[in-house]
Amino acid sequence: MSRITNDLDSVNQFDDTGLYPAINSAFTLLITTVLMLVVSWQLSIAVVLIAPLVLLMMSFTSRYSGPAFAQLQERTGALNGAAEELITGDRTVKAYRVEAIANQRMAELSDQAREAGTRANFVALTAMPLSAMLSNLDVALVALAGGWLSVKGTIDVGTVATFFIFARTFARPLNQFAQILNMALQARAGATRVFEILDEQPEIVDRSSATAITSVEGAVEMEHVDFSYVPGVPILHDVSLLARPGQKIGLVGPTGAGKSTIINVITRYYDVQAGDIRLDGTSIYDVEQLSLRQQVGMVLQEPYLFSDTVMANLRYSRLDATDDECVEAAKAAGAHSFITTLADGYDTVLSGGGSSLSQGQRQLITIARVILANRPVLILDEATSSVDTRTERKLQEALATLMEGRTSFVIAHRLSTIRDADVIVAIADGRVVDVGSHDELMAAGGFYHQLYMSQFRDGSLPAANA
Ligand SMILES: Nc1ncnc2c1ncn2[C@@H]1O[C@H](COP(=O)(O)OP(=O)(O)OP(=O)(O)O)[C@@H](O)[C@H]1O
Ligand SMILES: [Mg+2]
Repeated sequence: MSRITNDLDSVNQFDDTGLYPAINSAFTLLITTVLMLVVSWQLSIAVVLIAPLVLLMMSFTSRYSGPAFAQLQERTGALNGAAEELITGDRTVKAYRVEAIANQRMAELSDQAREAGTRANFVALTAMPLSAMLSNLDVALVALAGGWLSVKGTIDVGTVATFFIFARTFARPLNQFAQILNMALQARAGATRVFEILDEQPEIVDRSSATAITSVEGAVEMEHVDFSYVPGVPILHDVSLLARPGQKIGLVGPTGAGKSTIINVITRYYDVQAGDIRLDGTSIYDVEQLSLRQQVGMVLQEPYLFSDTVMANLRYSRLDATDDECVEAAKAAGAHSFITTLADGYDTVLSGGGSSLSQGQRQLITIARVILANRPVLILDEATSSVDTRTERKLQEALATLMEGRTSFVIAHRLSTIRDADVIVAIADGRVVDVGSHDELMAAGGFYHQLYMSQFRDGSLPAANA
């Protein structure tokens, strides 16, 4: 965030207020030098003598201040990051009464930024009066050399007088350079950080031979997939699974088992290290990512809504949907009734992240989104985990209609949600430990059976806290 605000700003500031004077000064210097040489080369030398001194001083300044400005930009970034985090996490800070620690952290980061800023600007700003002094020295040099030359009769007094003006005209742009030097150094430090991002190569890239995939049947196959987010920390081990077109696949397993990770690799948010994933028999690595994701409708585990109207948030999944289609989708998702009770109904503007809605309401809107999206493959990652069991049961019907004819992956801790799945895949520690229908897996008495029994007291009634 700091790079696209603060760092970009420092570049912008130089561009706005520093660049024009810099170009202007460069021209003035050039033209003055030419004019001086035409009038008297001896006096020109006296005037130009200060240029190397000023340049030397500027190079010293940039060598010292440059790194300090880089540090200032970096520390400002850390400060902005911490401010954003603490404001977002404001309730947690209050809940645990750690305001003092939060304040202290901000104070430390502010101090560090101030210290780097002082160091950077102190030297950079010293350049200004120094170069002003040097330009006065210039006038003295012209007086000295001009006096001597005119006494010798080499030049006339008029030329010397002209050179007093030249000396000023020559020194002014040099002073200007010294003045905008700190701005330029800060802009360079900011630009370096902005370019670090611009130069970053995406990890997930389409192969040059990749083609667009259109209108899929929805067969999804994972074959011997190994995956780790961080090198050396394997998360998925030899995961294979097959979803035939139109099947509902239930993914179950303990927290941290790797269920969301499986979804992340199927949709190619991450590339796997070994094995292959195929959609309708084509490796997803031979397919353009954009077209791959166009086949998939997702309700993510963390529903996210934008600071916009409810209607705009619904339409997010299909930009050409009409208002009526959005309302229809909201009705199917069971979101219509609460939306109509909002202050402006569908035109109510939601606050950032949808924080003005309950967690369950947010989920209903994201479900409406996926209904509207109308994609051949569906992914529901804990899509109904935050709604009450009665709402969930009603939703199941809507979702069942939606899933008809589509391949769907449903992740749920509440096992009643996936009981009717065609295939249930139980994951533990990143490995597939059980595959089969509910009845098969119950009969087998393995991992799924244990999981199920721990949730349902007598195999039919949901436990009170389910
Ligand atoms: N971006 C990431 N970088 C590194 N490790 C990650 C990342 N995301 C998840 N993990 C790790 O991968 C493992 C599997 O996480 P995953 O989110 O797939 O679990 P899950 O089965 O979906 O759990 P839950 O039921 O809690 O949603 C966890 O150990 C987690 O710490
Ligand atoms: Mg998960």
